[in-house]
Amino acid sequence: MAAIDFIDFPREPRQNTGMNQPPRILTFAGSLRKDSYNKKLARLAAEALRAAGAEVTLLDLADYPMPIFNQDDEDAHGLPETARRFKALLRGHDGFLIASPEYNSSFSGVLKNAIDWASRAESDDEAPLVAFAGKSAALVAASPGALGGLRGLVPLRMLLGNIGVFLLPDQIAIPDAANAFDASGAFTDARRSGQLDALARRLTAFTAGLASLK
Ligand SMILES: Cc1cc2nc3c(=O)[nH]c(=O)nc-3n(C[C@H](O)[C@H](O)[C@H](O)COP(=O)(O)O)c2cc1C
Repeated sequence: MAAIDFIDFPREPRQNTGMNQPPRILTFAGSLRKDSYNKKLARLAAEALRAAGAEVTLLDLADYPMPIFNQDDEDAHGLPETARRFKALLRGHDGFLIASPEYNSSFSGVLKNAIDWASRAESDDEAPLVAFAGKSAALVAASPGALGGLRGLVPLRMLLGNIGVFLLPDQIAIPDAANAFDASGAFTDARRSGQLDALARRLTAFTAGLASLK
């Protein structure tokens, strides 16, 4: 019988931190929109993660405008500066929390494009998928629709798993997003805060555990 081939994703060694250091979690939304519901959700998630003991960076993808990936451009110029900076941020964190808008039952093209750029090696001796392999992630979504963007998390979970990310099974989808946040950006329904706090605690603990294995 043929042996089963396992994909052996390389893991980046953790630098400057050890088991007693807080896990570093990068939090961002897959939307560029100024008033994005998912940016609001990412901001609340960042607060919840900090309260759970993580060291958090909240990123706005609008600050990292990237051209649509074209391998000819990559061959000629390598990664654009914004993609390099985004990839470096991913590399500098142990885990991710992604708030993902749902577009036509999937996640946004902006998010896919950013992941595609960051998945590319910048030199021949760079290990594959260094920005992603062995990291943790949790997914959340917000949508004006009744399902809260839940359907888009399915392909996003698949994509990230295929590039070596360990995904928390827990996720949160916020329906009726137009009424889910007040003017200050807080949840209008206090039960949502409890759910997000619980997710943040789990991601923090899961990320710390994963990082300690490296
Ligand atoms: C091209 C496009 C497709 C969309 N498809 C869906 C969809 O399949 N399901 C859904 O719940 N909302 C869908 N929406 C509505 C988005 O959920 C809504 O625009 C939301 O505000 C986007 O997230 P953001 O507020 O974080 O930018 C779609 C919006 C666009 C622009």
